[in-house]
Amino acid sequence: MDPLPDDPLGCRIVLLEDVEYREVEAIQASSINAAHVTPKLAKMLRAMWLNRANFEGRADYSSVNSPKDNPMLLMNTHADLNRPLDRSDAEMLGLEAARTVERFLTFRPNHTPTPLRALTQLASEVGVAAIHVKDESQRLGLGSFKALGGSYAVIRLVLEQASRELGREVDVSELQTPAVRQIAERITVGCATDGNHGKSVAAGATLVGARAAIFVHSGVTDERVAAIAQFGAEMIRVKGTYDDSVAEAERVCQEHGWIVVSDTSWPGYERIPGLVMQGYTAMLQEALQELPAAPTHVFMQAGVGGLAAAVAGHFDIVYGAKRPTFIVVEPDRAACLYESGVVGRPVKIEHGEPTIMAMLECYEPSLVAWRILSRKADAFMTVSEENAADTMRQLANPQGGDPAIVAGESGGAGLAGLLQALASNEARAKLGLDASSRVFVINTEGATDRARYEAIVGRSPAEVLGSR
Ligand SMILES: Cc1ncc(COP(=O)(O)O)c(C=O)c1O
Repeated sequence: MDPLPDDPLGCRIVLLEDVEYREVEAIQASSINAAHVTPKLAKMLRAMWLNRANFEGRADYSSVNSPKDNPMLLMNTHADLNRPLDRSDAEMLGLEAARTVERFLTFRPNHTPTPLRALTQLASEVGVAAIHVKDESQRLGLGSFKALGGSYAVIRLVLEQASRELGREVDVSELQTPAVRQIAERITVGCATDGNHGKSVAAGATLVGARAAIFVHSGVTDERVAAIAQFGAEMIRVKGTYDDSVAEAERVCQEHGWIVVSDTSWPGYERIPGLVMQGYTAMLQEALQELPAAPTHVFMQAGVGGLAAAVAGHFDIVYGAKRPTFIVVEPDRAACLYESGVVGRPVKIEHGEPTIMAMLECYEPSLVAWRILSRKADAFMTVSEENAADTMRQLANPQGGDPAIVAGESGGAGLAGLLQALASNEARAKLGLDASSRVFVINTEGATDRARYEAIVGRSPAEVLGSR
């Protein structure tokens, strides 16, 4: 194993003999240290890093409003771009599936469609025709769009078990019958979480009368843990990172015969994460019914990519060849989809510093999400910590007649991506953003950690909404 000499731009690549392309493992997002690659790939990566370093040299992430900002933007050049969705993915995210999710929602307490907000003043300031924000900050009383996914999967799994045991198709309308509840009581669901997904799974379990075991890593704040525990879930703290909590959740669930309800997928484990993603389609149908015109651009934040893939896939099914330009937005400290875009395959990236966008702090894409995004995402981009915080403040302090919106640290990241792209001539040109663009974004969470929200925005959510 001979390290190549460090090149003048700080790129160091370690060559491992006989290492296959698929074994590319560790590529650090912001300063590229080492990649374990074949000689062929090393050559390719080296060329890429050189270009990228040149690009980075011109970048300045210091302020959203700075006209010289130049976001990290990678156009998707994957061979699969614009290939049709796999049939199973199209079924998972199709219109019929969305109607099923909508029907399930009618059996949930606290269900009302979330608002679609027009930021007319901001759109005119930044030079686009429209910006619409689907505001998930109050979804099902749980504070994020994730409320739709995990709970839906839990309900579906309980109904499937009931159908098997009762020997007939059991409908969601029977969820609270004694026969179904007795079956649910014997089921335990488990998952690892940064906060929002676990809350959704725990709430779903409570609703049906099942048990939930939720695994949280050291970085999950006490406030977020308490928010999940209130649903009666057993909370299990795992030392280490999110990845450690995923591994521990799988191990413990296997040992006890519990069902893992994960929002990320891996080889051989696709169906349940697929149901979680399916749950998000109801939100998109709500938005589509309200949007005054089809969007031309979508900026969607990503952790493992499940949300972004659900949006990209569903919009592809709805709009076909006229689908909007789709941009995946990630924190620059945890950009596993961006890096996968660079390499052309899903890669696990090295852990870096934690990001305030805690819900997006993921280091390995969901396999199903990558399959969809490699076909239906047009670009991958990153935003900085400052971009995310600036956008939270911007949404809390709107200009003109725009409504105030409470967005948590991960909630405004899609909009942060748009503002970054608009601040760069190069990005605007590459993405075709201009005065006729109609942009759709989602505020994926409200103030899911109030203390952090107040520290960043300087006011409580209630004070911000008082100004609406
Ligand atoms: C508020 C919020 N936004 C965005 C995401 C990203 O979703 P995904 O991990 O499916 O990409 C998450 C994931 O937990 C989230 O909680």
